[in-house]
Amino acid sequence: MTQTSRKGAVIVTGAAQGLGRAFARRLAEDGYAVCLSDIAGDHVAAAADQLEKDGHAALGLAVDVTDEASVDEMVAAVVDRFGSVDGLVNNASIFSTLQMRPFFDIPLAEWRKVVDVNLTGVFICSKAVAAPMRVQGHGRIINISSAVVPMGRQNYLHYVGSKAGVVGMTRAMARELGEWNITVNAILPGATDTGIERATVTQQQRDALIAMRSIKRTQVPDDLCGVASFLMSKDSAFMSGQSLIVDGGAWFS
Ligand SMILES: NC(=O)c1ccc[n+]([C@@H]2O[C@H](COP(=O)([O-])OP(=O)(O)OC[C@H]3O[C@@H](n4cnc5c(N)ncnc54)[C@H](O)[C@@H]3O)[C@@H](O)[C@H]2O)c1
Repeated sequence: MTQTSRKGAVIVTGAAQGLGRAFARRLAEDGYAVCLSDIAGDHVAAAADQLEKDGHAALGLAVDVTDEASVDEMVAAVVDRFGSVDGLVNNASIFSTLQMRPFFDIPLAEWRKVVDVNLTGVFICSKAVAAPMRVQGHGRIINISSAVVPMGRQNYLHYVGSKAGVVGMTRAMARELGEWNITVNAILPGATDTGIERATVTQQQRDALIAMRSIKRTQVPDDLCGVASFLMSKDSAFMSGQSLIVDGGAWFS
């Protein structure tokens, strides 16, 4: 059954926890029907159920962004349920589970896995939504990169390399999709406290990152949700290929 929404339908990948979950809630509150997808199927179903209970249109799907068939099924399910695909937030990433180590100690298999999810996953999901968006003649793609790119943060080269690749892809995809009024922009978050434990930033490093910022406090998901909301909205219609660093003014583009 098609369920219509005031503003159209958006997909957020990696929406079971952390920033993806926060982006999904904000976009639902903005009036979009939201598909929350994640490889962690149970968690994403629970997140979607909660949004539905709160009166929003939401769909939770178990999706591996590296599996083209699974991604194509997701896009078909969204079109079937909501009637269109108007936006995509490429948020899924191997991130909070990463171990920090010098690049010369990173096993090749781990490198390939990180690049597969963080970079190839963006390609697969963007390719899948480009088809219906081109037919519609509009669309919004938001790629979640990272402020580790301008910083050149050490000890997870696969992650930094994948997120730098996302910036390059954002620019090239913007040029390729502009003809259909599809905008493609990237957000580069600073280290953000999502409540999820991770080994990629110690308390000492967190304090050092705060000291580097113009606005000296902990970054929280809400600091990013408004930017995603703007990039998804009609107000950003003439902006494409851009990379917005949102890190409290630590690094400047
Ligand atoms: N939190 C930060 O400090 C920070 C800073 C800069 C950039 N980012 C980026 O923001 C995004 C969200 O970060 P987060 O802190 O919420 O990360 P997180 O590690 O808490 O969540 C990532 C989500 O992606 C999902 N995922 C992993 N592999 C997947 C796959 N193959 N298919 C589908 N889903 C998959 C995970 O299950 C998880 O729910 C990521 O792209 C991350 O790189 C985060």
